[in-house]
Amino acid sequence: MLNSPVVEAAPEDRPIPRMSGPALMVIFGASGDLAQRKLLPALYNLVQKKLLPEDFTIVGYSRTEYSDEAFREMARVGVEKYSDVEFQEAEWQKFAQGIFYVAGNYDDAEGFARLKSRIEELDQSRRTGHNRLFYLATPPSVYEPVATQLGQADLVHPVDEKCWTRLVVEKPFGHDLASAQALNEHLLGIFDEDQIYRIDHYLGKETVQNILVFRFANGIFEPIWNRNYVDHVQITVSESIGVEQRGGYYDKSGALRDMVQNHMMQLVSLVGMEPPVAFDAKAVRDQKVNLLRSIRPLAPEEVGQYLVRAQYSPGDLNGERLPAYRDEEGVAHESTTETFVAWKLEIDNWRWNGVPFYLRTGKALPQKVSEIAIYFRRAPHLLFDSADDGEHLSRNVLLIRIQPDEGISLKISAKQPGPAVKLQPVNMAFQYGSSFGATPPDAYQRLLLDVVLGDGTLFTRRDEVEVAWDRVTRVLDGWKIQEDQAQSRGVPFRLPTYEAGTWGPAAAEHLLGLEDQSWRKP
Ligand code: NDP
Ligand code: BG6
Repeated sequence: MLNSPVVEAAPEDRPIPRMSGPALMVIFGASGDLAQRKLLPALYNLVQKKLLPEDFTIVGYSRTEYSDEAFREMARVGVEKYSDVEFQEAEWQKFAQGIFYVAGNYDDAEGFARLKSRIEELDQSRRTGHNRLFYLATPPSVYEPVATQLGQADLVHPVDEKCWTRLVVEKPFGHDLASAQALNEHLLGIFDEDQIYRIDHYLGKETVQNILVFRFANGIFEPIWNRNYVDHVQITVSESIGVEQRGGYYDKSGALRDMVQNHMMQLVSLVGMEPPVAFDAKAVRDQKVNLLRSIRPLAPEEVGQYLVRAQYSPGDLNGERLPAYRDEEGVAHESTTETFVAWKLEIDNWRWNGVPFYLRTGKALPQKVSEIAIYFRRAPHLLFDSADDGEHLSRNVLLIRIQPDEGISLKISAKQPGPAVKLQPVNMAFQYGSSFGATPPDAYQRLLLDVVLGDGTLFTRRDEVEVAWDRVTRVLDGWKIQEDQAQSRGVPFRLPTYEAGTWGPAAAEHLLGLEDQSWRKP
């Protein structure tokens, strides 16, 4: 639950509030990057922090042939490298005793029969309580066959009413509305909705959860959190890397699908939603869905007016020369996939009507930053001389920094010291690190613990994922029409470009320019 006490650094003498009971987790795609870099280290951390029991059991499943020992070695490399608690040999040895491996195909009844008998054996030898968690950490093409095989192997229904079976589905959840609906239909033909946990790792970030606490645990913000006081909202999720080794995946996805449909839509919904009646999965997700449904759907011909997309061209980034996106490994030479997108999003409800939410995300930008900036309306009448940037002085900005330098600050105008009344912007700031003396744990720790505890608040519900895809698919349709029109004129379609290491194409500035607004420099 979101209103649970802080669990990190709980003093020794207090009971730990969110310790889970026993369970067994099967990771499909266990030989892959996600398992090694995120899942196994997160599980090790949770056991060391005593949030998962010591006898928590893990079974890796993928096609690569490993013995239990070889898989433990692979897990050890990930844990040593990526865990945020100190690696201790004795603790590792205990943890490793709970790791097992079954090799098999994802659509093969014989492999699932072997998996089932291993699970049943471990249920007895490790007292798992028959609680089972299946995690789809494979490419999405395999989600449906795995769910089908789980159903056919009779691994979906809990063994009795005291235990549970849950399924975690990684992103991407579909590549447009139709495919997301089809995947939902398929999974819901086998599992119940409350057994399915669709992961969006942004929701596991401490600072993202803090948006709700900040809004609804402090009485002073809610009264001004609306069109009467807010001028506009900017949400930036920028990355200072190119596509690196993921060109093959990214070229079929692009910034809109990879970042906006999921992570950024989640941020929009948390910033914009109405207060839920309680902090439970249903109430919070009901309000998030309401907000997403209020996002104005675009007609194909409006897409060019509300969105800007572009691709990076060669440039210097962090002291290195980045090639053009089209020359990256795994990317088609004539690719029209966007690596940058900016969206002026309108929300048609009483709270936000007329307050644009500007989203921008991209690869090969100057900094890695995720932040939400709420720009308030200017003071109606300025009595004082300002220092240099008078235009911006009277606008208060509330900045929610998701990463790095997690925290929240409010920009206000103050009098410069001296005989004249000259204004200068200053910040009132809360910083996560200095206030809590810790850096936030990796999102996967929180999300895995929540799945084991059966708390779906931080996971995406069926209707949520589909309404987000609906708004995004309309944009994809509009873009497709733009490309088809160019082709029908015999002109090869090309995206605008921006130099790697800059903040995107000039056209992104024009999205805001007309309204006396400009993008924040993070
Ligand atoms: P990988 O490409 O490393 O795939 C995981 C495993 O799946 C592989 O080790 C392989 O195991 C199996 N696999 C790979 N390709 C295929 C295929 N075409 N058909 C069947 N099986 C295949 O992916 P990641 O571990 O990086 O990601 C797994 C999932 O998690 C993906 O859906 C990804 O989008 C998502 N994700 C990953 C993140 C990350 O940081 N890595 C972050 C967020 C989401 P084997 O050959 O042994 O069967
Ligand atoms: C993933 C995207 O979902 O999020 C990646 O597929 C992106 O392309 C990553 O790099 C960003 O996550 P974070 O937590 O580093 O902001």
